[in-house]
Amino acid sequence: MVSGSAGGEFEQLGLPSWERKAADLLLVLRSGGALGEPERVVYRVWRGAERGRWEEWGLRYDLTLILAGEIGGELNKTFGHYHAPLPLWPQGFPELYQVLEGRGLFLLQRPGGREVALSLAGPGEAVFIPPGFGHLTVNVGPEPLLVSNLVLAEGEALYEPFARSRGGAWYVLKGDELAGFRLRPNPSYSELGLPRLRPPLYLSFRLLDRVRDCPEEFRFLLHPEAELPFWMRGAGSEKGEVLLEKGGSARGGTSPSVQ
Ligand SMILES: [Fe+2]
Repeated sequence: MVSGSAGGEFEQLGLPSWERKAADLLLVLRSGGALGEPERVVYRVWRGAERGRWEEWGLRYDLTLILAGEIGGELNKTFGHYHAPLPLWPQGFPELYQVLEGRGLFLLQRPGGREVALSLAGPGEAVFIPPGFGHLTVNVGPEPLLVSNLVLAEGEALYEPFARSRGGAWYVLKGDELAGFRLRPNPSYSELGLPRLRPPLYLSFRLLDRVRDCPEEFRFLLHPEAELPFWMRGAGSEKGEVLLEKGGSARGGTSPSVQ
């Protein structure tokens, strides 16, 4: 398990990990070449960060640590990707995230940006990525953002669509004291509408503990016909696709200023 993440202690011997530096994000940044410090690490990913019975079910548990900061005014973010189609998941497979430390903004988008949802999540809160949505995560807080995720182990991430569009449908810029961040539309997206704010799921447990104890509850990440566990139904839907459709407007939280 990753601990003391704020202090540069993220070397986890024996665990496969990779990092992205500012220069690696060049293709998805609003500022283009204005990198500041191109060699600065923006985030690090541990794939298969914990081993367990869920691997026999075809699930993988990962951790991502996104450091606080900005690149050319844009808050530190992941590159963004879609999930490659599979026979069972022609639109791409789903994924479930949970924030462990810090404060994150999850941007979910359909190809072309015709539907975009934003979820602001703090420690304990979870964000479901339904089939068909590309996604990226932004650290909108002053501390490192540590998120976990459970996902189909055999699934493949497609980064190229985000590179081709110079990032996600909206850029998340550093805000002022009133608003922690500001949104700017990405002009590469021609069908862009206003993003919907979608409340996160609050979970009373950590995904890692839950998947250790009850891996069968996560079958909905493996098979489109599987029932959602009761703690997902709390969001008001039976199926992930509907979960987003019915996600509705945000309850509480900070409203970003849209520009
Ligand atoms: Fe993903």
